[in-house]
Amino acid sequence: DKGNHRHFMEKEIYEQPEVISHALSHYMNFAENTIGSNASEIDFKSVSGLAISACGTAYLAGLIGKYWFERYARLPVEIDVASEFRYREMPLQPSQAALFISQSGETADTLASLRYCKDNGLKIGAVVNVQESTIARESDAVFPIMAGPEIGVASTKAFTCQLAVLASLAIGAGKARGTVSADEEKGLVRQLAEMPRIMSRVLNLVQPQMESLSRELSKCRDVLYLGRGTSFPLAMEGALKLKEISYIHAEGYAAGELKHGPIALIDENMPVIVIAPYDRFFEKTVSNMQEVAARGGRIIFITDEAGAAASKLPTLATIALPNVPEIIAPMIFSLPIQLLAYHTAVFMGTDVDQPRNLAKSVTVE
Ligand code: M6R
Repeated sequence: DKGNHRHFMEKEIYEQPEVISHALSHYMNFAENTIGSNASEIDFKSVSGLAISACGTAYLAGLIGKYWFERYARLPVEIDVASEFRYREMPLQPSQAALFISQSGETADTLASLRYCKDNGLKIGAVVNVQESTIARESDAVFPIMAGPEIGVASTKAFTCQLAVLASLAIGAGKARGTVSADEEKGLVRQLAEMPRIMSRVLNLVQPQMESLSRELSKCRDVLYLGRGTSFPLAMEGALKLKEISYIHAEGYAAGELKHGPIALIDENMPVIVIAPYDRFFEKTVSNMQEVAARGGRIIFITDEAGAAASKLPTLATIALPNVPEIIAPMIFSLPIQLLAYHTAVFMGTDVDQPRNLAKSVTVE
């Protein structure tokens, strides 16, 4: 049932504040502002490293998770798309743990990577939406994302819930490994707890702007997304979402890679969507934006209030989200990129919930 929404995708985008709060309450104790025991089913204290494998959007969630595990838990992370991971013959040690991220829990390549790690004696954790799935059944520890059924082929609420779970696991791992102090833990949990409320606000705030920008985007053949740090996987997620439902060619690049190739593409016909919260990477990303502007590129700047005030560059549009703590920025910045892809597809009249050539769950190699 779509309720009063036109598509499941729209319904699922607007469900995010609610389902994220379910995900967070599963892993956190809000009375004490701590990470709870559901996040510690893997003994992160004793593992030497983490291998992560997943496909598509789930893989991009894993890439953001990698930044968090390395930063907060000082845990080295090896990550790859499952179709490569399963055949790479990477050396693995039984002292490592492995995480498999999958909404459906049935993706063939992800399952094959899981079995490869199991054969190598690794402890297996699954971050899944469908708790009765094959991936969940074959894992030692199951970390549900609590998103509820996701019907739209384009993954939206599963992505942000995967991120909420990965953030909880990374902070929990940091606590176990002594790299996150009790004070830091409290601070981070408080920041995460604010997220549902901020999400509701942001959805209402950016919707009209995303709808009007979608007209502009629908005329384009190619779109480039740029970001640094955790905004880099988000740039790839923005591009994936746009291509899968609007069929517009889009690529997500690390902003620092611009001058190693893609800058040759810049002209007035290809909009560049820059994702840049006012964080420790902001100035660097703005200098990449400058290179785009100097070549006549049209910029759609997705930033926050502080970022909008700090940059004087001309843009086609500037989306100023509220200033938010770094740990929740990837989830908050997901919202405008989801809405932009959604409205572009609706404007172009594609089959939003069931895009051509795609299946919700890819159970064959
Ligand atoms: O069910 P899974 O999370 O394992 O699915 C992985 C990908 O097939 C999936 O995320 C796909 O990329 C989405 N359609 C993207 O929106």
